[in-house]
Amino acid sequence: MKKLLLTALFFALPAAADDTRQPVKLTPQAQDVLRQEMLDNLIAINEVLALVAANKVKEAGEVAEARLGRSAMGKNARLPFEARPGPQMPAAMHELGRNGHLAASEFAAAAASGDRERALALLPNLTGNCVACHASYRTR
Ligand code: HEC
Repeated sequence: MKKLLLTALFFALPAAADDTRQPVKLTPQAQDVLRQEMLDNLIAINEVLALVAANKVKEAGEVAEARLGRSAMGKNARLPFEARPGPQMPAAMHELGRNGHLAASEFAAAAASGDRERALALLPNLTGNCVACHASYRTR
């Protein structure tokens, strides 16, 4: 039984040869910066969800804006080029990153306005661009 489960799991995972994501070459420095940002993204998303669940929609919007929104954009601009992931990405990939920031700010604006219904409707857009980018590109 256990073996059967393991076999099922094995076939459910995409084999490396079937990986259709586009490989993207970033410098090791840019990869480090991106990874740290990604780990922060996940923590921020989790905080936003926890606040929404606790009915603190306004606070959720504040976290979303500060950590994921337009306010969190461009903070790598002062790094040397080789450490900046954005400009090393293909344009379409970079665009997904930008759209993610804009989606977070749109959610934040709805949350700030007190329009809970609209904020909830926009909530899935917070992860939509994460998923779109991860499904299309890889750096390793
Ligand atoms: C523009 C593309 C893009 C967007 C948008 C994006 N990511 Fe990523 N993310 C990557 C890439 C590239 C990696 C590196 C892993 C790889 O190459 O497969 C990564 C890795 C990660 C990792 C793994 C970090 C590690 O320890 O290695 C996490 C967690 C993550 N992303 C979370 C998120 C979350 C949450 C969001 C949305 C808020 C998000 N990402 C949005 C491109 C993106």
